[in-house]
Amino acid sequence: MCGIVGYIGAREATSLLLTGLKELEYRGYDSAGIALLGRDGLRSFRAVGKLVNLVTKVGDYRSQGAVAAIGHTRWATHGKPSEENAHPHGLRHSRVVHNGIIENHAALRAMLAKKFASQTDTEVIVHLFEKHLENMPDASDPELAGLAALRATLDELHGAYAILLITESLPGKILFARKGSPLQFGITADGCHFASSDAPLVGICRETVYLEDGQWGIASADTVRLLDAQGIRVEPKTAALPASSLVAQKEGFRTFMEKEIYEQPRVLADILTGRLRDDAVTLEELPTDWLQRFSGVTLCACGTSYHAALAGSYLLERLARLPVRVEIASEFRYRDPVLDPAGLFIVISQSGETADTLEALKLAKGQGLATLALCNVDNSSIVRTADRSILLRAGIEKGVASTKAFSAQVMTLWLLALYWGTAKATLCRDRLSREVIAVRAAVGVMTPPQGIHDRIHRLSKRYLHGHGFFFIGRDLFYPLALEGALKLKEISYLHAEGYPAGEMKHGPIALADARLFTIALMARNSLYDKVRSNVEELSARDSTIVAITAEPFDLADDIIQIRPYDHPMLEFFEMLTVVQLLALEVATRLGNDVDMPRNLAKSVTVE
Ligand code: F6R
Repeated sequence: MCGIVGYIGAREATSLLLTGLKELEYRGYDSAGIALLGRDGLRSFRAVGKLVNLVTKVGDYRSQGAVAAIGHTRWATHGKPSEENAHPHGLRHSRVVHNGIIENHAALRAMLAKKFASQTDTEVIVHLFEKHLENMPDASDPELAGLAALRATLDELHGAYAILLITESLPGKILFARKGSPLQFGITADGCHFASSDAPLVGICRETVYLEDGQWGIASADTVRLLDAQGIRVEPKTAALPASSLVAQKEGFRTFMEKEIYEQPRVLADILTGRLRDDAVTLEELPTDWLQRFSGVTLCACGTSYHAALAGSYLLERLARLPVRVEIASEFRYRDPVLDPAGLFIVISQSGETADTLEALKLAKGQGLATLALCNVDNSSIVRTADRSILLRAGIEKGVASTKAFSAQVMTLWLLALYWGTAKATLCRDRLSREVIAVRAAVGVMTPPQGIHDRIHRLSKRYLHGHGFFFIGRDLFYPLALEGALKLKEISYLHAEGYPAGEMKHGPIALADARLFTIALMARNSLYDKVRSNVEELSARDSTIVAITAEPFDLADDIIQIRPYDHPMLEFFEMLTVVQLLALEVATRLGNDVDMPRNLAKSVTVE
């Protein structure tokens, strides 16, 4: 998804911006650009596709002396990926980069009645800005005039934005604003640096200022004039940035996704650190008297995080005997939902910046509900908005297809269910003790057993064609089926669906023939005989069956044998590794870019 960087100072700015954009690359993008305002006046470079194309466009150009410079990676929302639609967008005197969506851009275009160079919503910002700047009654103080023109522009925008703008009347300055899309800055001895997330600033700044919604202002190399929505000057609040570079290396793996699959045992071990004492689970982030207040739970998320929420609903119901509802954030926020004010609203997000999840969180908060975020990124918008948060401890996830964040989410929800169940006394001693033994064992389960990766690699060549995949499972293995199908379709571009095994006969079984591949999640500790019957029905109609199971099953065309466990969650985590590796191997054989699949973004900051 779109990313922003900016710099004011005397360092060579093209390489600084390109390095910053590189740090944002993993978020997914389809074009990129930079603009510089310095001794040579305004210079812009834009290119479609990967950053290497932008590097070619920049060629030998290097900034000289003090500059104000902005850069952007664009993930197309309005208008196709093309050079004209790439940011920065400009008019005669100014250039702008923008994350978010200007919802009333069509009305603004009509009102401006100008010729536009792109199909983007962003371009209206620079048109409005220049119009207001030209009409400023007293332009004798360019800084005040620039600020007034920006304010007048912001007042006309509906939607979400993080904006950086440079203009010829303000050399050495960047105008900025944030509403609904993240933006931050940091000042060092050699200048002022902007970015839409931590990554480009790590290793450059020790501290950063995360802009609050509604904040805007003007920056120079060594000072930032930060204003609130009413135009009143506010003191920037600084937060520490990690000292080491976030650039994760592949450590010998072919892709980040593969490395992240293999990191899962370590992630689960990290999650358990300090949280298990004998037979007790503790979550220091949540006082038990706080949890006891709630009569039920709403879990809300998108994509993979939504699948984790679904898995969490089975665990919270079963172990803590809580009424749970699960919501897809993008549906929830426009449904005018009726919420129980005595319930706890939990959002789940890897990035902490997913626009739909963030807005759903704000909606629940606005209705007076207590809120909790399970999130992988500290200081993210979601963490900062929720009343309380539990960090997922998965470490930076670079692969666009989420793997270790999902296992971290499910493990954290399992701990939450046990902690809450203990507080509510819904778990007897024996049950709790069995659960804690299984929790500890899950760490080892996530190390793929000897030979399984090879087996999946060999098997994958038989599953490159066909007219579709159905991943089926029941109970906890239904969310896992959804997740397996999502992983496969994201990176292989093959059609795949996750379905509750018992529902196949209510329609989808009509698709069954030899070219329909059924991936059956057959857990021995969870409704095994029921799922077996559902798979037999598909086999009888000639569907090609891949069974993932610890049991012998002679109707399968292929079996991926998992180890025999006596707890469904252990089967869950081992099967998770299997479906992740299956997606990885199929996509790799098809020659796809596994870490940056087409059309996808790591952090979905638009709705
Ligand atoms: C799939 C995937 C997405 C995200 C979804 C929510 O592999 O990564 O489906 O899970 O966009 O993102 P977060 O968890 O960052 O809110």
